[in-house]
Amino acid sequence: MKALMMTKYGSISTSLAFQSVAMPKASANQVVIRVCASSINPIDYKILRGDFKALSKVQFPQGIGRDVSGVVVEVGKQVHHFKVGDAVLSRIDESLVGTIADYVASESHHTTLKPEQLTHEEAASIPLAGLTALQALVTTANLKAGEKVLIHAGSGGVGSIAVQLAKSIGAFVATTTSTANAELLTKLGADQVIDYKQENYLEQVSDFDVVFDTLGGDYTLDAFKVIKKGGKVVSISGEVDDILAQDLGLNLIIRTILKLKARKIVKAAAKKQAMYRMILMSPNGVQLAELVDLYVNKKIKPVIDSVYPFTKSIEALEHLLKGRAKGKILIKH
Ligand SMILES: NC(=O)c1ccc[n+]([C@@H]2O[C@H](COP(=O)([O-])OP(=O)(O)OC[C@H]3O[C@@H](n4cnc5c(N)ncnc54)[C@H](OP(=O)(O)O)[C@@H]3O)[C@@H](O)[C@H]2O)c1
Repeated sequence: MKALMMTKYGSISTSLAFQSVAMPKASANQVVIRVCASSINPIDYKILRGDFKALSKVQFPQGIGRDVSGVVVEVGKQVHHFKVGDAVLSRIDESLVGTIADYVASESHHTTLKPEQLTHEEAASIPLAGLTALQALVTTANLKAGEKVLIHAGSGGVGSIAVQLAKSIGAFVATTTSTANAELLTKLGADQVIDYKQENYLEQVSDFDVVFDTLGGDYTLDAFKVIKKGGKVVSISGEVDDILAQDLGLNLIIRTILKLKARKIVKAAAKKQAMYRMILMSPNGVQLAELVDLYVNKKIKPVIDSVYPFTKSIEALEHLLKGRAKGKILIKH
């Protein structure tokens, strides 16, 4: 079968190649999926360029892509809730990465059924970004109806889902975006759209319950300026907190370095008696099914920036790297 493979650390143009590779086989708890659509995420190019080398090394050649929607072609011996022919979607496990391919294996508990109401492209837009939004806003921040949440980069892959998810919970949603995307965010239901090209968001919001920091850098520390006392800052791009460092099983030297890097954030959080968490999303079939229900019930609409053919996957990644995607970039197989 054909797959887009990472051949070495480097740039999208120099370190990716289409190769003929062996078909995956389903182990006891896995399904093999014929890929109909996949979607790309910043982690794909970040791993390729070596951003996480210190934490985990890639064994090249390795597949690329984590989101899939397709049709089950093989089920493992212990899999009873999927059968050959089922349309499914999944955020596959890191150990199985490689959805920009003809076929991919997925753990069955990371997989859920695709409803007929969603196309494969729409379904493939959900897993990684949707689970990130859900695990940040619901699992970690425990966002409630009536609470005020600031979501940075509302027009991005994660942000466009997070804004709609927060609205479905009944929260007041403020979001930052550029002038070109302001109208999109209003359509997605945001209560307050802050155009970062025209306004300083720090002057537009205060006393918020939750900040969802998708941008990192200064945005993480500045989040503590806009939350109320006892508020919550959940980041997906900021400094690693102690809980995550422990979950990742990092050694003492790396944990000490990370602690030093996060010291200003920890201080700012303590001053506000606030919570700070940096999360790494994880695959979860049950939560994925909950998200799919929100799409079926039209609480969340798929926001698709563009759809590239499989043969143009490298161009799709170059597009994502520019950082201007409006929603998700998809690949049709
Ligand atoms: N920790 C985790 O588990 C996890 C999971 C998913 C993603 N992430 C990370 O989260 C980040 C966002 O992911 P994504 O998939 O949403 O990325 P993305 O789709 O590439 O984000 C692009 C969007 O970001 C917006 N943006 C860029 N700079 C902005 C700024 N200063 N203010 C407001 N909006 C801005 C752009 O809007 P404009 O064009 O209007 O500027 C664009 O719509 C990435 O760094 C990714 O690696 C982490």
